[in-house]
Amino acid sequence: MLTVPRMAPALEAGRALSEFSSDVVVGLNHPGQKELPSKYLYDEVGSALFEAICTLPEYGLARAGKRLLERYSDEIVDQVPGGVMVAELGSGSAQQTRWLLEALARRQRVNYYPIDISRNALCRCQAELGQIDMVSMVGFERVYLDGLQEVAAQRRGEERLLVLFLGSTIGNFDRPAGEQFLREVRSILRPGDALLLGTDLVKPIGTLILAYDDPAGVTAAFNKNLLARINRELDGDFDLRHFEHVVRYDQSERRIEMHLRSTVWQRVVIRKAGFRFYLRQGETIWTESSHKYSAAEVVEMGERSGYRSAAQWFDFEWPFAQSLFLAV
Ligand code: AVJ
Repeated sequence: MLTVPRMAPALEAGRALSEFSSDVVVGLNHPGQKELPSKYLYDEVGSALFEAICTLPEYGLARAGKRLLERYSDEIVDQVPGGVMVAELGSGSAQQTRWLLEALARRQRVNYYPIDISRNALCRCQAELGQIDMVSMVGFERVYLDGLQEVAAQRRGEERLLVLFLGSTIGNFDRPAGEQFLREVRSILRPGDALLLGTDLVKPIGTLILAYDDPAGVTAAFNKNLLARINRELDGDFDLRHFEHVVRYDQSERRIEMHLRSTVWQRVVIRKAGFRFYLRQGETIWTESSHKYSAAEVVEMGERSGYRSAAQWFDFEWPFAQSLFLAV
């Protein structure tokens, strides 16, 4: 696979570490609610735990998204005629992407460009999707919008770009930021290009809570690994025994929130960040949000951001939508 590093790997790694360090300090200094950016949940351990989450019976989201692509990939690609290149934002959804690439490859040669900040994720994607007949793949180790810009620059002639944003990753953004992100994607596209957007839909609270607080504790481990990662990479001294995984549903925001709650008063030192702070007993660090949508809301969000809604496909076993938008 040809990935395209922006600078020497050692420099890149150094820059990534200092960005991690400053994001951690800013989040933990946040007045009121302490927080950590959810993107840091996905180091090598975190990505492996997330894959385990996707196999849990309680986490129906992953299977719903996959079922939809298994059933409807032919219909989906029929809505995007002509020569098509595929860019995927995030490469963690390789299994479902396979159905779509195979459907396209029945009609044409396909260039597939997964975009991910994790080299590991790209390598796994290469292992899983690199061998499909008629599909060639070039991974971009980049943040989503930078990567998408570079992919768009590879476009030949009248070829259309199909952007995949699957797995309800958009749910990590709050609503205004999610919509802004769709707009930014649109600014890189040409009229006629397409965006396939996966979104988890609103469902009974009990079902949602169980999906993010599974009895086997896999999601708890996924959440706590963020503190373990800070210990590993930034020489922190978080004592994981004094934190518990907490999941809440905020009714008015229609989102699941994951927090880590300190069970005692404690002091934490993060040496490489030169940072020290305190947690009260019961105080939480907010680590992730997963917004839930209605089908109509997804259409409206897309239509306000420069797209026309072409079609939606639903899973009824685990309410989930794949929405196809065309750039106007
Ligand atoms: C990968 C962001 C879609 O929010 O459902 C799963 C991450 N966190 N369990 C989600 C996650 C806890 C997941 N996304």
